[in-house]
Amino acid sequence: MSALDLGLRGKTALITGGASGIGAAIATALAKEGVAVCLADRQSCRDTLEAIAQQGGTGYAVKVDLRFEDQVHSMVAQAIDDLGSLDLFVNVAASLASESVTRMMLTTWNDILATNVTACALACRDVAIHMIGRGQGGVMLIVGSTVMYNPAYAQAAYRVSKTGLKAYMETLAIELAPYGIRVNMVTPGSFPTPLVSHLSSEQRWAAAREVPLGQREGQLSEVAPLALALLSDTFSSYITGADVPVDGGLHLRPLYFGSSEEVKRFNS
Ligand SMILES: NC(=O)c1ccc[n+]([C@@H]2O[C@H](COP(=O)([O-])OP(=O)(O)OC[C@H]3O[C@@H](n4cnc5c(N)ncnc54)[C@H](O)[C@@H]3O)[C@@H](O)[C@H]2O)c1
Repeated sequence: MSALDLGLRGKTALITGGASGIGAAIATALAKEGVAVCLADRQSCRDTLEAIAQQGGTGYAVKVDLRFEDQVHSMVAQAIDDLGSLDLFVNVAASLASESVTRMMLTTWNDILATNVTACALACRDVAIHMIGRGQGGVMLIVGSTVMYNPAYAQAAYRVSKTGLKAYMETLAIELAPYGIRVNMVTPGSFPTPLVSHLSSEQRWAAAREVPLGQREGQLSEVAPLALALLSDTFSSYITGADVPVDGGLHLRPLYFGSSEEVKRFNS
C-alpha cells in the first residue's frame, strides 16, 4: 500500500487540550506528518512533547486556563511567536461534569461554557485575525461530541456547550470562507480518556453497547486520521462547515438507556 501525502509537511498548528487524550493523539499524528505544533493546556504537556520529540518532530507548549480571556489571547500570541505563523488551529480542550438538572451549580455551568464554547470563540477570533492578515488561508478544526445528537443524563451544561460549539462552527465557516479559511468539526462518540474516567464501568458499557459498529468504545488511533484528513487541503479542499462523527454510528442510537427508577435517582 502506498503512503498518502496529506500535504501537511512544513505547516504549523496550535492545538488546545494537547496534554491528554484526543488532543495529544491529534498533536502527535500532526507532528509525525511534519507539522510543527504548539500544545496549549492547563496541564503539563511533557508526555506529548516527549512523544513528538521521539519521532523527530517539533513541539512547543503553552500553559493556559482557557476560562480566562486574557490567557486565551496570550496563548494565540505565544503560539504565533513560537511557530512564526499559524496554518492550522485545532480546538480540542473541554471540561465535563456530571450534574443533574436539579443539582446544577452556576459555577460548574459557567466553567463548562467558558472552557468549551467561549474559549473556542475567543481563540478562533484571534486566529482568524492572524490568518486573514497574512492572506494565505488556513484551516480550523473543532472537536464536538455525540452528546450534540443524543442527550445524556446529568450532562446538560456539556450538551449545551457542544451544540453551541456546532452552531458557532457553522457561522465561523461561512464568515471565513471568503478568505479561503476552512472550518470543520470532528465529533467523537465514546473514547477511553481522562474526560470520562469519572463514569463507572457500567455507564461506559451502557454507551459502548449502543455503538452499532462493534459495540465498543473507539480507540484514539481512530480519531487522528479523520482530523488530519479534514486539516489537509489535499483531502478536504472543498469541505467546510461539516460535522463528521467518529463514533461507530453512536449518534444514531441513544447514548444510554436508563430505567425510570435509575433516572429518578439522578434528581432525588
Ligand atoms: N472521551 C470521549 O469519550 C469524548 C467523547 C466525545 C467528545 N469528546 C471531546 O474530545 C475532546 C478531548 O477530550 P478527551 O476525551 O481527550 O479528554 P481529556 O480529558 O483527555 O482532554 C481534555 C484536555 O482539555 C484540557 N482542559 C480542560 N479544561 C481546560 C481549561 N480550562 N484550560 C486548559 N485546558 C483545559 C485538559 O487539561 C485535558 O488535557 C473534548 O472536546 C471532548 O469534549 C470526548
